[in-house]
Amino acid sequence: MIKSKIAGIGYNVPKNIVSNFDLEKMMDTSDEWIQTRTGIRERRWVEDGMANSDLALPACQQAIRMAGIQVKDIDAIIVGTVTSDYNFPGMAPIIQQKLGITSNIRAFDISAACSAFIYLLEIGDQFIQTSKYKNILLVGSDVMSCTLDKTPNGRATGVLFGDGAGAVILSPATDDSCILSTHTFADGSGVENLHGKAPGSKFYPNRINKEIIEQGHHFITQNGREVFKNAVTRMPEAVKLAMEENNLAIEDIKLVIAHQANARILEACATKMQLPEEKMYMNIHKYGNTTAGTIPIAMCEAIQEGRFQKGDIILLTAFGAGYTWASAAIRW
Ligand code: UT7
Repeated sequence: MIKSKIAGIGYNVPKNIVSNFDLEKMMDTSDEWIQTRTGIRERRWVEDGMANSDLALPACQQAIRMAGIQVKDIDAIIVGTVTSDYNFPGMAPIIQQKLGITSNIRAFDISAACSAFIYLLEIGDQFIQTSKYKNILLVGSDVMSCTLDKTPNGRATGVLFGDGAGAVILSPATDDSCILSTHTFADGSGVENLHGKAPGSKFYPNRINKEIIEQGHHFITQNGREVFKNAVTRMPEAVKLAMEENNLAIEDIKLVIAHQANARILEACATKMQLPEEKMYMNIHKYGNTTAGTIPIAMCEAIQEGRFQKGDIILLTAFGAGYTWASAAIRW
C-alpha cells in the first residue's frame, strides 16, 4: 500500500510580540495570572493589513523548498483555518493565487478549529494512499487576534490566543518515513462551549449587523473549564488509540506534539499518558494558542532543536472547538 510522508514543512509567525505585560494595559489581567493558569508569556499578533494568507505564504514556501518540488508540482491545496481572509471563498484558492499556481488544481478549506492540522493529515493521507494526488500542500494557519475582545470583558479568552501558520507538503513515502496512522473524532455537544458565532447564517438575513457586534457574537467565546476537562480526557484517549494501532510503547515514542492551548493541559495529558515530561513538547510560552497553527509550528521548532530525527516516531494530538479531537503517529 502507498503511504504518505511529510516531505517538507515550514512555519511563520508575525514579528509583533505581545507580552502579558502588554495585555495588562488592555485587559483586567496580570502576567502572574496568565503564566500560572496557562504557561503563556507572550504571543504574536499580526499588525494591521496582514491577512491570514499573508502570514501563511512564507510557511508554504518553506515547505515547498524543503520538499524539493516546484509550485507546478502541487496537485492540491487544503487549508485548515477558522480565520480565513474572507467569509468565502476559502483561503486555499487565495494561497494558490499567491503562490502563482495557474493550473486548475483543487483548493479548498476545512473547518476543524484546533484539530484542523491532524484532520488535514488524514485527508491528505487518503488522497496519497489512493494515488489520486502526489504532492499536497496542507496549511494550518490562524489569525486569532482578530477574533478577540481586547477589553476587560474579553480577558477570559483574550489572553490565550496568538497568530501563527504552519504548512507541509505531503507526498508518497519513498522509504520507512511515513504517516503511520491518523484518528479523528468529533462530538457536537461541545459546540456551545467554544465558538465564534458571527458572521453566520444563524443570524439571518444579514449574518452580521450592529446588534450582533454589540452582543459580541463575532468574538471567540469559551467555557474554559468544560473545554479543559474534555481536552485532558480526549487527547490521551486519542494517543492511546494511535499507540495501540501501531503497537507502540512509551519507550518507542521520541516526542509527543500536542495542540498548544495550555501548559497545564499538556502536563495533565503527560501524566495520564504516563509520558516523561521531556517527551511532551511545549512552546506555548512563546506563541499562546494559534489554533490550526500550533502543531506544525511546534514540529518545526522541535526539528530545529534536534528533538526528533529521521527514523524517530512522533505522536501528534489535538483537541478543540466542535468538539473535535485527533491523533496521528508519524515515523519521521
Ligand atoms: O484550543 C482550544 C481549546 N481550548 C482550551 O483548551 C482552553 C481550555 N481551558 C483553559 O485553558 C482554562 O480553563 C483557562 C485558562 C481558559 C481558564 O483557567 P481556569 O483555571 O479554568 O480559570 P477560570 O476560568 O475558572 O477562572 C478563574 C478566575 C475567575 O475569577 P473568580 O470567579 O474565581 O473570581 C475568572 O474571572 O480567574 C478569573 N479570570 C482572570 N483573571 C485574570 C479569568 N480570566 C482571567 C484573566 N486574568 N485573563
